[in-house]
Amino acid sequence: MESNRKKLVVLTGAGVSAESGLRTFRDMNGLWEEYKVEDVASPEGWHRNPELVLRFYNERRRQLQNAKPNAGHTGLAELERCYDITIITQNVDNLHEQAGSTKVLHLHGMLTKVRSSVDERLVYDIGYKDINLGDRCEKGSQLRPHIVWFGEAVPAMDLAIDIASEADIFVVLGTSLNVYPAASLYRYIPTHAPLYVIDPSNDVTVSSKGNRVTYIREKASVGVLQLMEILLKECQ
Ligand code: APR
Repeated sequence: MESNRKKLVVLTGAGVSAESGLRTFRDMNGLWEEYKVEDVASPEGWHRNPELVLRFYNERRRQLQNAKPNAGHTGLAELERCYDITIITQNVDNLHEQAGSTKVLHLHGMLTKVRSSVDERLVYDIGYKDINLGDRCEKGSQLRPHIVWFGEAVPAMDLAIDIASEADIFVVLGTSLNVYPAASLYRYIPTHAPLYVIDPSNDVTVSSKGNRVTYIREKASVGVLQLMEILLKECQ
């Protein structure tokens, strides 16, 4: 029964997709797949050179088309057998969905969607197709990637906070917790909720106000298996 199941909320970042061949951001000295982050992930970059920005996301979309979920993604999908799971992801890929997770909230948008550059409510699915200069929305404005760039508001954040504040268990997976507001999400969880942090880097720490915190210093594929061992035992 849905209502008896514990609410497991997982905040994921680029690290969960690293073993699927998609690179993380902050290990590249400010470069993201050879591009400067501020050139391809800011409104200023878009105004300076929209062609470069479109090319960058076209490349990311093609790369995603060939990427497969890894054991981190599939393990989280399997946990739905026992838990009412919501994944709140900072990732713009669709690998959680490909793995079979059914409730995924994208904080920073999705590669497979585009939107109008004058009306952010006009969002379109484009799958893995390119967008180019001259491709327009129904109001006649240039289409842009449906991605939340640095300096832009995060419209899904309020919903994410509501979800986090009802968590029975919260997991932070594969994120450096460097980018706000996403990085503050775990602070909204109830104090009774255990908090798990899965990341190979010792730099990723949380400051908890009383929650029991467990660090699993492993890659996503190994760390999620360890988490499953703990959580599936508890739900039997
Ligand atoms: N498994 C799990 N974690 C890993 C792995 C792996 N195989 N490889 C690396 N990591 C960890 C790193 O140790 C790091 O803590 O993943 C984290 C990646 O951190 P970032 O590159 O900062 O990515 P993320 O936290 O998702 O960035 C947040 O910033 O650039 C913006 O909008 C973009 O959504 C992104 C946001």
